[in-house]
Amino acid sequence: MVTAVLGLQWGDEGKGKIVDALCEEADVAVRCQGGANAGHTVVIEGTKHVLHLIPSGILRANTYCVIADGVVVDLDVLSEEINRLRSLGLEVLDRLAVSMRAHVVLPLHRRIEAIHEEARGKERIGTTGRGIGPCYSDKAARLGIRICDVLQRDSLAGKIKALYEAHGFNGTQADEEIERTLGYLSRFADLMRRVGKDTHVILAEALASGKSILLEGSQGFMLDLDHGTYPYVTSCNTGIHGLLTGSGLPPGALTKVVGVAKAYVTRVGAGPFPTQMEEPFQSQVRERGQEFGATTGRPRRCGWLDLVALRYACRTNGITSLAITKLDTLGGIEILKVCTAYKYGGKIFDVPPPSAGILSHCIPQYKQVDPWRDLGTLSCFDDLPREAKAYLALIEEWTDSRVEVVSTGAERASILRA
Ligand code: GDP
Ligand code: IMO
Ligand code: MG
Repeated sequence: MVTAVLGLQWGDEGKGKIVDALCEEADVAVRCQGGANAGHTVVIEGTKHVLHLIPSGILRANTYCVIADGVVVDLDVLSEEINRLRSLGLEVLDRLAVSMRAHVVLPLHRRIEAIHEEARGKERIGTTGRGIGPCYSDKAARLGIRICDVLQRDSLAGKIKALYEAHGFNGTQADEEIERTLGYLSRFADLMRRVGKDTHVILAEALASGKSILLEGSQGFMLDLDHGTYPYVTSCNTGIHGLLTGSGLPPGALTKVVGVAKAYVTRVGAGPFPTQMEEPFQSQVRERGQEFGATTGRPRRCGWLDLVALRYACRTNGITSLAITKLDTLGGIEILKVCTAYKYGGKIFDVPPPSAGILSHCIPQYKQVDPWRDLGTLSCFDDLPREAKAYLALIEEWTDSRVEVVSTGAERASILRA
């Protein structure tokens, strides 16, 4: 059985929390794409864990964790993450495999990203600064350094030389950079010897022996390189197609696709965001929902639930059920509305237009809905206020998908199953 869990908006939907809940029953958890631009939060009895590269399943003692082919691995972040988890008493190394095929994010990639963002000026993407775009660019240009390369010392220097030359370095400057990069990578060679694996074999065996596998998406569908709000996107496929490519699992193995969406929307970084809230709602929701980036600490832009984008995301990903998070954050907000269409140039759009320029000028068409009180502590789905249930029913109607899980607080325990 293979369950995919992916974000349907602009990231930070609460995937970490939902993955943690579903991993209670998963044998294997897999990160498939993205890199340390992700920040997935799980709160367990007051202790907050933020995971950037290791699947959130690591917090369940019986779940084996895989960082698969499509992830771009920042070795500094990975080793810090392992050390932090070990300092909390969690044994990680016996339960972690990193694909030999995965690409490595080098310090060079972060430097290139900073230069590109600076050069864009007002048009900057507002990236996380984690070197993700340049690393995926080098991968596509067939210049990338992979985990398997780190362990092949005889050919590594030649590959690094080719990479630096392609980026315009030569002479002694190139020699110095190559030496520095070799030194950097050698710091992680022992760790890679320990956890570097052919993860295809691991996943094929798990599948053949009937284990349950959970694919943990990172970012959100509206940040997908092909289907999102290009160019204000990340540099990989964040939808179901990216999870399949990144894990190497065959599409037919997929049993369930769980879409995670907030009861409203947030976006960090630049780019069109039609339903961005006006004040005082923007500040109220940011404060109540603690909407600050788990990776960069940046304040997130907050918006009303965008049913146009959500329906597009559900349809394109073949969502089989929904997990709606942060329903508590909207409790007590006096006016609630949802976007059901966009208007641009006298025309009504019921799907997001392909051009970011047009999307940024779309006027959202809203439907007002009944607000609900503070949720407080709830023990079952039926305890939800009538208005909150109506809100969930509206989401189901618009997306033609069933809401199976509702999250009503950051804590692991604050979760309701419909
Ligand atoms: P992810 O990237 O999709 O895993 O999401 P993040 O961890 O970046 O952001 C979600 C934030 O909301 C984290 O701080 C979570 O602890 C928190 N969170 C998740 N679900 C809920 C919820 O239902 N209610 C509240 N209030 N917070 C939640
Ligand atoms: P999780 O997995 C929210 C955004 C950045 C920027 C754009 C490109 O925690 O949901 P990048 O560094 O990837 O080149 O930045 O994508 N972004 C995210 N926003 N959550 C994330 O991950 C994100 N990962 C990237 O803010 O707008
Ligand atoms: Mg996040």
